[in-house]
Amino acid sequence: MADGWIAFRNRIDSFIVLGLAFAVATTLTAHAQTADQAWLRSTGHIARTLYPRHVRSLGNDPIEQSAVKELQRNLGDLVTAASLTARAEAGLGGQTVVGTAQEVRAAYPKLPVPADLKPDGYWIYSSPCADRYNGCGERNQIVIVGGDERGVLYGAFALIRAGATVDLGKPPTPATSPMRGAPAMPIRWVDEWDNFNGTVERGYAGRSIFFEGNKVRGDLSAVGEYARLLASVGINGCNVNNVNGAAPFLVADNIPQLARIADAMRPWGVRLALSVDIASPQKIGGLKTFDPLDPDVIGWWQTKVGEIYALIPDFAGFTVKADSEGQAGPASYGRSPADAANLLAAALAPHGGVVLYRAFVYNNHLDYNDLKADRARAAYDIFHPLDGKFLPNVIVQIKEGPIDFQAQEPVSPTFAGLQKTNTAMEVQITQEYLGQQRHLVYIAPMWKWVLDFDLHAQNRSTPVKTIIEGKSFNRRLGGMIGVASVGRDGWLGSPLALANLYAFGRLAWNPNLTPEQIAAEWTRQTISTDPQVVATVDKMLMQSWPAYVHYTGPLGTQTLTDITGSHYGPNIESSERNGWGQWHRDDAKGIGMDRTVATGTGFAGQYPPQVAKLYESLATTPDDLLLFFHHVPYTYKLHSGKTVIQYIYDSHYQGAQEAAQLGTEWATLKGKVDPDLFQEVSTRLEYQAGHAIVWRDAIVQYFFKDSGIPDAEGRAGHYPGRLEAENAHLTGYKVIPVTPWEDASGGKAVSCPSSAPAPPKAQQDHSIDVNPPGTPICKAEWTYNGQSGRYNIAVQYFDLQPGTAHFTLSVNSQQVVSWEANASLPSRRPNGDNSTRFTFRGADMHGVDLRPGDTLAVEGTPDGNDPAALDYIEIDPAAASALTHK
Ligand code: GCU
Repeated sequence: MADGWIAFRNRIDSFIVLGLAFAVATTLTAHAQTADQAWLRSTGHIARTLYPRHVRSLGNDPIEQSAVKELQRNLGDLVTAASLTARAEAGLGGQTVVGTAQEVRAAYPKLPVPADLKPDGYWIYSSPCADRYNGCGERNQIVIVGGDERGVLYGAFALIRAGATVDLGKPPTPATSPMRGAPAMPIRWVDEWDNFNGTVERGYAGRSIFFEGNKVRGDLSAVGEYARLLASVGINGCNVNNVNGAAPFLVADNIPQLARIADAMRPWGVRLALSVDIASPQKIGGLKTFDPLDPDVIGWWQTKVGEIYALIPDFAGFTVKADSEGQAGPASYGRSPADAANLLAAALAPHGGVVLYRAFVYNNHLDYNDLKADRARAAYDIFHPLDGKFLPNVIVQIKEGPIDFQAQEPVSPTFAGLQKTNTAMEVQITQEYLGQQRHLVYIAPMWKWVLDFDLHAQNRSTPVKTIIEGKSFNRRLGGMIGVASVGRDGWLGSPLALANLYAFGRLAWNPNLTPEQIAAEWTRQTISTDPQVVATVDKMLMQSWPAYVHYTGPLGTQTLTDITGSHYGPNIESSERNGWGQWHRDDAKGIGMDRTVATGTGFAGQYPPQVAKLYESLATTPDDLLLFFHHVPYTYKLHSGKTVIQYIYDSHYQGAQEAAQLGTEWATLKGKVDPDLFQEVSTRLEYQAGHAIVWRDAIVQYFFKDSGIPDAEGRAGHYPGRLEAENAHLTGYKVIPVTPWEDASGGKAVSCPSSAPAPPKAQQDHSIDVNPPGTPICKAEWTYNGQSGRYNIAVQYFDLQPGTAHFTLSVNSQQVVSWEANASLPSRRPNGDNSTRFTFRGADMHGVDLRPGDTLAVEGTPDGNDPAALDYIEIDPAAASALTHK
């Protein structure tokens, strides 16, 4: 069981603490990438096994065979364990039979298989004595019936899940009543933004599992394992290539390669889809045009689609990003998205394929000075007039919010704006704007809020979920698409982030599940069934998204991150004064985008009347979206009674505290979860708590300066125990301005130039093994003037790449700890992307004794591009420390 976690740990951005009891080791051992690294961890966590151990299928289809294999695999040790009691042995006797409805009706004509069992649906029947406790031996029988082969597989996974979660509010088991399941929506896809060269756009888990060196990878075993993982939560399609730069994939020689990917996924019922570049006929087809109405272009696509289906008969379809962020589109010829979508749809229709045409079409050269300009309007403005003009196999794929996967946005009004068109909702599983998997953010509560949001189209109840299920407007197709961008490092690079992939599949299958239910299922299958572990992990998951919103950008300001670069650390002004339109329009007096019809961009008016009215008025707009819809003075009072500015201060302090709390909660699980997992998650949460402080301080000091309004709690601009590096006695270190200024405490840091003189030989000796002779070492020294006591000492430094800078902390010239800055964080300049906190809590974790007059020193040794830059040190009473990692 531990192997999977060790593999995760191989790539964690860890603090390597040299010579200390709490050193985090990283062992680099290659492990095959398997679905067992996620929630399919088989035997270890099964609460009960709900089916007889002799498993057979009625049909030969590979998908059915997968169901059999999965059921057998899940039995694991139970199949052979000598220790089975006679009673359990009896209960596990009999047989488990799987088959499609057709096969089962032929084999068991008397079985009451429901007549309306649809494709992908399942029904699980047990003979009256088939539960494992009544010991009815060979008569014991469970039959998993699928509406089709995929339904058989989904039934098998449902039974396995029921075994692992049987204590959760007593879900039905086949022993109590037949279990039945059917997906709420037909399209349940993940999109991968993989490039042909093996990189993954917005992927935070290493290189592509599909491609390398402009080829499909030779070994596709990870692809098969991924498909198994996807199938276990009912996902039935996978688009494997980036929506940007898609043209090369359709070159004739590449199609047989892509067919290998389809082959690897097929046994799990996951169909291959591809992103396509609408300009392909010109880019790779040698035509002079890609005008969607040109007969040669129409012919080119028909031929290309024919080539694909010849090799991939179950090919699912195309995804299109056009006229967006530099991708070519039909606008070049004055044609509409409907013209482009229908061109592809007509080619795919005879083969049963679909087109997912993305509504993410907008002008990224908007005029900031135009107070009516608004990127949020784009999807509705462009697609609403085309409603009803799309062919039946086109689905318009709409991002959940009108901007771009922000920490918090309103629901896209386009869901209500397309009533004669199939629609699907696109969400991001990969955490582009949500901490990039370095932060724990369980996104299911946000998705659930969107799914349940009632748009009140046609003056009746039309929650987003019923729209994308096709029910609200009587559409045949619809669904959910999750941009996963998995990679070779434990799928999502962080063990707890896998809860998001799991939750995505479960919600696409059944949007009525609650995030809490899903979290409980996931934890039990992945980590432990121990009630304390389940309760703690679920609480942490549920706290994580609100915490992230609190420290990154509340009240609907979106994520106040570097939107033209990393999308990771704080950079408030990066969204302003450029054409990208992620504006929040803050100045000395106030903040927010006026999107009202009366005085603003009119975006609020894109919603059906009931919702439009809600957002049009300041009085009724909920606080958490206030600044998305209105520009208000900092002194404006929220419904809560707080002013906007005080809320900004309070929520950021609250968010940072909540982030620290996640680590405190996890610490209570020591000894109760796998030790490798415990250590990995502890390290990650410690990093997150530190980065939440970077966010807190950046936003608080920025708006404190902007508004000039003091914090009622006296925190803004005051940092007890903080000693700035720029005020230290510096040897070698040079004071530098940090850009953006708010990313460093007081806007400044110190950096060790590679031209700094190397210290005399004698001084180098203690670090001889890490620094080649001649390497400069810079030093910042402070004199402690506070009260005597025990303290934790936090060092805030910038961890740049490439390069592994080395740091030491000394008290009264005695080195107490050293560590390496070896994380892979974005940006190659010191800023909030890479500002990192290392906290020394004493060798015994109870703090360090300090007295007035003591000297504290940090020595930094640069390496490569990493100048061992320092922001400050902070001395906190040891008892007040929230984190107690060991
Ligand atoms: C975001 C993201 C891009 C991506 C785009 C899209 O803007 O940053 O990497 O290409 O969304 O959804 O197409």
